[in-house]
Amino acid sequence: MLQNCNIVKLHKKSAMTCNIAVLVSGRGSNLQSIIDNIESGYIRNASINVVVSDVHDAYALERARDRAIDAIFINPSEHGSKKDYEKYLIGILEEYSIDLILLAGYMRLLGNSFIRRYKNRIMNIHPSLLPSFKGLDAQKQALEYGVKVSGCTVHFVDEGMDSGPIILQQSVRVLENDTVESLSERILEQEHVIYPEAVKLFVEGKLKVQGRIVLTRNYERPVK
Ligand code: GRF
Repeated sequence: MLQNCNIVKLHKKSAMTCNIAVLVSGRGSNLQSIIDNIESGYIRNASINVVVSDVHDAYALERARDRAIDAIFINPSEHGSKKDYEKYLIGILEEYSIDLILLAGYMRLLGNSFIRRYKNRIMNIHPSLLPSFKGLDAQKQALEYGVKVSGCTVHFVDEGMDSGPIILQQSVRVLENDTVESLSERILEQEHVIYPEAVKLFVEGKLKVQGRIVLTRNYERPVK
């Protein structure tokens, strides 16, 4: 990792494989889109080494097993505290020499020490144009607020909720007859486009974080 003042170039461009872990809790359509984009060769020099779920019957686990990816359920109730749970999780991530962690419908908030340990190496996908509509039910929040445009955001995870540096966003028009389901469906289609794109940029060493600004084209912002 190359450190230059407060500029952090995240992944050294090389032929080495980027080892990815995906944390999930549910259906795993975003996991599937990353798997498909690795298999198709859109994302090169990367592999999903392990999928971890906090829900034992998450469909995402099946998707992983179907592609011969190690799929692990960690039962939160078997770990006394969040700290113990995350210590166990870190053990798994270290065992697989993980470089990048993707949250894909993972319903647990990560603790600060976990986030600091993997600073700028944890990504999340959120179904709104952040910083609008953080937290749960983002599509419902957008509809209720009456926005005409919503969308999705891939961002690095920091200690706040849905507040980390933004990597990519895609807008989606809100239609007058939209329901939560119809809007969610159109946003999800775009999630499946920008999440693989963000992973590709990371793996190719094309992301740099300058403060909370993520640069994606190998240039630095001019200093004012
Ligand atoms: C997606 O809408 C994502 O934006 C949000 O949780 C949902 C996960 O869906 N964080 P899936 O499990 O990837 O299908």
